[in-house]
Amino acid sequence: MKILYDSPSQIITVNAGGKKYKRGKELSKVDLLENHSIFVENGKIKDLVPSSSTHKIKYDKKIDLSGSIVLPGLVECHTHSAFYGSRSNEFLMRLNGATYEEIAASGGGIISTMKNVRNASFEELVKFLEPKIKSFISQGVTSLEIKSGYGLSFYDEIKLLQVINYFKNTALINIIPTFLGAHTYPPEYKNEKNKYLDLLTEELFPYISQNKLANFVDAFIEKGAFSVEDVNLIFERAKKYKFNLRLHTDQFSSIGGIPLAIKHNCLSADHLEVINDDDIKLISKSKTAAVLLPGVSFFLDHKYAPARELIDNNAIVALSTDYNPGSSHINNLQLIMQLAALKLRMSAEEIISAVTINSAYALGISENTGTIELGKDADFAIFELNEYSELIYNIGVNLLKYTVKSGNIIYQKAD
Ligand code: NIG
Ligand code: FE
Repeated sequence: MKILYDSPSQIITVNAGGKKYKRGKELSKVDLLENHSIFVENGKIKDLVPSSSTHKIKYDKKIDLSGSIVLPGLVECHTHSAFYGSRSNEFLMRLNGATYEEIAASGGGIISTMKNVRNASFEELVKFLEPKIKSFISQGVTSLEIKSGYGLSFYDEIKLLQVINYFKNTALINIIPTFLGAHTYPPEYKNEKNKYLDLLTEELFPYISQNKLANFVDAFIEKGAFSVEDVNLIFERAKKYKFNLRLHTDQFSSIGGIPLAIKHNCLSADHLEVINDDDIKLISKSKTAAVLLPGVSFFLDHKYAPARELIDNNAIVALSTDYNPGSSHINNLQLIMQLAALKLRMSAEEIISAVTINSAYALGISENTGTIELGKDADFAIFELNEYSELIYNIGVNLLKYTVKSGNIIYQKAD
């Protein structure tokens, strides 16, 4: 099938010259093409042609994009979308002065969602997750990571990974499952932490690896969750199964997570609200992406990550919603882009690089997606706008017209 995406106002290619990520100053170069059209063949980007010469091309279908701009399909690289139920009660408690950490320490937080997930069936979880995925698609997301981490038992973590894999096999976009059994210690193992570490690494790892339920292992380093020593052991054991690694760290305390992430060549270290200056330098020199989650700071009314310092020190910065029921109940990547402008002081260009090529890199998929370069998957987010600055300016308004995955329009805005 040959399709011509014809005459948009702008194509923001985010050209990375074949490289897998952009660091530091490179984030501000997004490569703008005007008066060009995109020729797609068999789901891949075949050519970028001057719109004045498209009559020479033979195609099966033409999509008129006048008055629209084309971006690479957005990549959402960090979500906990596979949850069940609501924590609106905790939201109200926080409005009355309780902190996120206090609520977690008193048995709420992740554990309250764990209880809901354990009581939900596979079918109920599928039904709950489906509209969340559709919502991401309606914003232009073509690759979406989803973590487990609310089961916290053998049965319930596998159940969650099976739910995520159900969508990996049936959804219209890329779904990337991540195993986050090391989210927090479940109550039944509070006094037997080594047994939980063994359950994760000696029972769940082999089962997940054999059944190909996830390629990524993630963990949460925090007081009240996992220590640096715990995660070092988890990562050592993960290597045997060749899992790619990611890490939640430096959300509330800076206790050595960044050096650990770098030691283990994590593809990303995520959160970093309280990262210290030495660790900014360390991560900025490394190949570990810094995934920033301004929705968490907004939702918890907490400190924002030092995006400017990270970019100025040459880091590979990506952005994500961290969509989850407790710390960022924000199922909206465009709002995160707008928060990144206002609160992280990132430029529109840096933000676009952060939600395309760099978030694709954090998921290990930037060879095939994340930019509009020849040979890559034809994944596009097409907006009804004349220029990309409008994306940041129109706060809370979804101006997406089409989501295109591997050349096909999989979502179209209703007229
Ligand atoms: O990334 N930090 C740990 N985990 C999630 C929050 C999960 C929850 O509160 O349910 C996060 O913020
Ligand atoms: Fe998270």
